[in-house]
Amino acid sequence: MKKIFVNGYGSIGSRIVSFLKDDSEIEVIGVGKYSPDEKVDEAISKGLAVYVPESKLNNFSNFKISGSIESALDGCDLVIDASPGGHGFKNKKNLYEPKNIPAIYQGGESTTGSEAVSDLLFNSRANYDQALGKYHVMQGSCNVTGMGRILEPLRTQFGDKIIRFDVTLVRRWADIEQTEKKLSDTIEMTEQPHHGDDVKLYFGKDAPLYVRAIKVPTRQMHLHIMDIRFNDIAPKPSEIHKIFTNEFGVATLWTARGTKDVRDCAKNMGFNFVDTNMIHIHANMTTSIGDTVQMMYSDDQTGIVIPENHMLMQAMLFEKSYQEAFAHTESIFNMAEKKQKLEEFFAKK
Ligand SMILES: NC(=O)c1ccc[n+]([C@@H]2O[C@H](COP(=O)([O-])OP(=O)(O)OC[C@H]3O[C@@H](n4cnc5c(N)ncnc54)[C@H](OP(=O)(O)O)[C@@H]3O)[C@@H](O)[C@H]2O)c1
Repeated sequence: MKKIFVNGYGSIGSRIVSFLKDDSEIEVIGVGKYSPDEKVDEAISKGLAVYVPESKLNNFSNFKISGSIESALDGCDLVIDASPGGHGFKNKKNLYEPKNIPAIYQGGESTTGSEAVSDLLFNSRANYDQALGKYHVMQGSCNVTGMGRILEPLRTQFGDKIIRFDVTLVRRWADIEQTEKKLSDTIEMTEQPHHGDDVKLYFGKDAPLYVRAIKVPTRQMHLHIMDIRFNDIAPKPSEIHKIFTNEFGVATLWTARGTKDVRDCAKNMGFNFVDTNMIHIHANMTTSIGDTVQMMYSDDQTGIVIPENHMLMQAMLFEKSYQEAFAHTESIFNMAEKKQKLEEFFAKK
C-alpha cells in the first residue's frame, strides 16, 4: 500500500484526504496544518494524524498533534500539496526536493517562470499519459480544468472546423466554507488572466483561444460564457450537447436558473461536501447563430479538481493506464451516478 501525506487542510486538502480514506490502495499518513485553530481538532476527530512544521511545534502544545511535517514526510511515497498559491513552490524547494519525494501541486502554483513547480500542467482528459511516473506535476486550477472538459471533446469532434474560442470566465469570489472571507459588492476585472495560457499548456500554444475574466460576489461556482466560431455554418445545439452525453465530469442541465440551484441539488442529494465534482452545461442557454455556437457552463470550483488529483496520483505512483485509473477513480467518486442524478433533476420539461 502506498503512503500519502496531504500538506494543507483547507478547502482542497480536506476534500482530497476525505476521498483518499476510501481508497484501499492508499494509506493516508496524515495532514499538515500551519495554524493552531479549530480545524486541528476537526481533523483529529475524523481519525487523521495532524503534523505541523518543526518550527511551529510549540504553538500547538494545546493540541494532540502527531509530530512534525518534516518527520512525516520521511515515511511517505508521495505528497499532495494543498497549500495556498505560491507556497507549493517553497515547499518543493525546502521539503520535497531535498527529501526526493514526488509531489502533486495545485492550481495556485505555476508551470512557467522562475517559480515553476513542474513543466507539466495536468488535465486527465488531455495529457494523462504524460504524468506516468513523473516526480513533480501541477494539477490545473478549477477554471483551467473546467475549460479542458469542454474544449477537448469539441476539438476531437470538430477539429479544424473550429476557428476560434472566446471565453469569459465569471469567477466566484470565495468558497462556501470560507466564511471569514467577505464578498465585496463589486464586479472586479482581472488584467491578463493566466487561465488561457494555462489551458494552452495542454491544448497547444497556438490554439485560437481567447480568455477574459471577471470576479463577482458569489460563493456559488464559476460560470464560463463561451463562443465557438466555425469556418462554416455552426452545428445545432443538439449536436453540441450530444458530444457530452458520455463525457466524464460533464452534466447537461436544462432547468437550473442559476448556479445555486445546482449546489442546492447537490446538497439535497447528499453529495459529499455538497460538491458535484463536475461542470454543468446550461443547455437552455446554448444557441447556434450563423457560424457561432454560444454556450454557458458552470464549474464546481472546489469539487472539480478532486477526482483529477486522484487520477494524477495514480499516474505518478502506480503508472496505471488511463482506463484502469479512470475505473478506480469512478469507483470512489461515483461521477456517472452523480451526473445521471443531476441530469434527471434538471431534465428538459
Ligand atoms: N478553493 C478552490 O476552489 C480551489 C480550486 C482549485 C484549486 N485551488 C488551489 O488549491 C490550493 C489550495 O487552495 P485552498 O482553497 O484549499 O486554500 P485554503 O482553503 O486557504 O487552505 C490552505 C491550507 O494550506 C495550509 N498551509 C498554510 N501554509 C502552508 C504551507 N506553507 N504549506 C502547506 N500548507 C500550508 C493552511 O493551513 P492553516 O489553515 O493551518 O494555516 C490551509 O490548511 C491553491 O493552490 C488554490 O489555488 C483552490
